[in-house]
Amino acid sequence: MEKEYLEIATLAAKKAGQFLLKNLGQVNTIEYKGITNLVSDMDKEAEEIIVSILLENYPQHQILAEERPNQGPASEFKWIIDPLDGTTNYVHGYPCFAVSIALAIREEIMVGVVYDPLLDEVFSSQKGGGAFLNQKPIKVSETRRLISSLVATGFSYDIITQDDNSLIYFNHMVKHAQGIRRNGSAALELCYVAAGRLDGFWEHKLSPWDMAAGSLMVTEAGGRVTTFTGNLFSIYGDEILTTNGNIHEEMIQIFRQNQPV
Ligand code: IPD
Ligand code: CA
Ligand code: CA
Repeated sequence: MEKEYLEIATLAAKKAGQFLLKNLGQVNTIEYKGITNLVSDMDKEAEEIIVSILLENYPQHQILAEERPNQGPASEFKWIIDPLDGTTNYVHGYPCFAVSIALAIREEIMVGVVYDPLLDEVFSSQKGGGAFLNQKPIKVSETRRLISSLVATGFSYDIITQDDNSLIYFNHMVKHAQGIRRNGSAALELCYVAAGRLDGFWEHKLSPWDMAAGSLMVTEAGGRVTTFTGNLFSIYGDEILTTNGNIHEEMIQIFRQNQPV
C-alpha cells in the first residue's frame, strides 16, 4: 500500500512542479504573510493541483498544507505538503525550489517525495525502504570531520524582527566547516544531505511541511536527524540538525557551546 501512496505522491509532486516550471517568471500576485514572507498565486495554484490529486484518490485523508487551514476530517492518514519550497527564490527567478509531499500514518512519516522541476530530480523514500533519487538508491556522505564538510542552513522569516535567532550558530559554524551554503529551500537541502551532496544541514523554526519528506529521506539514506542538542526530532518542533552521522557530535558541540543569550 505504501508503494501506491508513494506513486500518487510522486504524480502530484511532478504535476505541481511542472506547473511551477512552466510559470517561472510569471508570478501575478504576491501577498505578504510577514515583512519578507511572501506567498504568490503560484504557491496557491500548485497546492490546489496537489490537494485535488490526493483527495481524489484518498477522500478520507487529512491535509496539512502550507497555504490552507488544516483541511478534511481528522484521520490517521495525514498528507503534509509544501507546494513551493523556496518561494523567495521562485519570485526572484533564482533557480532553486521544490515541491515537498509526505504522508504520516498515526503521526509517523511513512512516505516522502521532494521534486525539483529544474533538474527533473525526484527524491523519494518509504519508511524502512531506503531513499532514492530518480529511482536509484542514495546514501549520505562518508565525510568524517566538520572541517572537511559542506554544510547548509537557512533563516526563518522572523529574523528581521526577532533577536532570538540562529545567527550566532552561523557565525561559529562558518569558522569550523569547509564551506557553508544557504540555498533557500530547506526541503531540497535535506535531500542533498540524503544524497551526500551536503554533509549536514540545520535550521531553526522550520514548519512541518518544510521538514516532513526531507527528514525521512535523510534517515532512510543512513543519516541522523535530531534537535540541535541531539534530542529526539519532531516535525512539529523548533529545531532540525541533520548530518551524515559522522559529523553530528561535532556540530552538537558547537550548538551547546554557543547558546543564544
Ligand atoms: C522556506 C525555505 C527556506 C527556509 C525558510 C522556509 P518557503 O520555505 O525552506 O529555505 O530558510 O525558513 O520557510 O517559505 O519558501 O516555503
Ligand atoms: Ca517551505
Ligand atoms: Ca512554501
